Amino acid sequence: MAKPKVFVSRVVPESGLKMLYEACDVEVWPGDLPPPRKTLLEKVRDVDGLLSLLTDKVDDELLDAAPKLRVVANLAVGFDNIDVDACTRRGVLCGNTPGVLTETTADFAFALLMSAARRVVEGDRYTREGKWLTWGPLLLLGQDVHHSTLGLVGLGRIGSEMAKRAKGFSMRVIYYDMFRREDLEQSMGITFADLDTVIREADFLSIHTPLTPETRHLMNAERFKMMKKTAILINSARGPIVDTMALNDALRSGTIAGAGLDVTDPEPIPMDHPLVGAPNCVIAPHIASASVVTRSKMSEIAAGNIINGLRGETMPAPLNQDKVTGRRK
Ligand code: GLV
Repeated sequence: MAKPKVFVSRVVPESGLKMLYEACDVEVWPGDLPPPRKTLLEKVRDVDGLLSLLTDKVDDELLDAAPKLRVVANLAVGFDNIDVDACTRRGVLCGNTPGVLTETTADFAFALLMSAARRVVEGDRYTREGKWLTWGPLLLLGQDVHHSTLGLVGLGRIGSEMAKRAKGFSMRVIYYDMFRREDLEQSMGITFADLDTVIREADFLSIHTPLTPETRHLMNAERFKMMKKTAILINSARGPIVDTMALNDALRSGTIAGAGLDVTDPEPIPMDHPLVGAPNCVIAPHIASASVVTRSKMSEIAAGNIINGLRGETMPAPLNQDKVTGRRK
């Protein structure tokens, strides 16, 4: 029997690719950049499975172009690039890669927090630019992390790992989430508060919520004004949760003290974007889950989602399998 056809929209770690090569007839897009939209639509014309990245929009247009498509596996935990409802309506299974990247992403979010607090990137630049002439009592003063208050917007998997790290730094942790986690409040010694209180009281405000119509521009000019002048915003979730121009204004006017971003809007951020020149803004190129081990595990889960989905078996990380086939995890 002919193997099912799968398009993989970028070179992903070997372990997942190997699984796919064994079970499917695979084409991998070899470019460093995503396939242009027109090319992607051509590539999916004949495929049963698509291993997508968060840079690929899976919407009605793509689904129209892919009449045989049965499974879409995103190599990410976030899936705001996929119209899951549209997939469900057409009986197309979707999967993501939760769990394996939780701690890796929290490590990086905390690294951003430390970098922005203690001006690590500015310090490195200062040294390399030959400006380090002496030990300076007022040189590059930052904010203390220990014993400060971490405000978490979202206490899901990554948010709660962030809380765990903060506790190691003797931080007070307050959080807002639509779902209150009294178990974690007890076990971790953290406190629930309404969103405005979290924003007002945080020395570090870290975003850990998915991008939805409700969270788009959750951090806007009005909310930046509510933050402490010494506060630092950390975003390792999705760029559009923050109004980029409002953040730029807040940094330049001293409304807040800094930002550590792994995600931006737009992404990638153009080099002539005002945020690129904003003071004390650390910007990383969306690499929070980018450790060797984690990316391999993500590729294996994505491959497993495709292989199991195509076989009619339970996917390792399904998003709509219950709705499409009635099968629960
Ligand atoms: C990366 O941003 C992911 O959602 O996994």
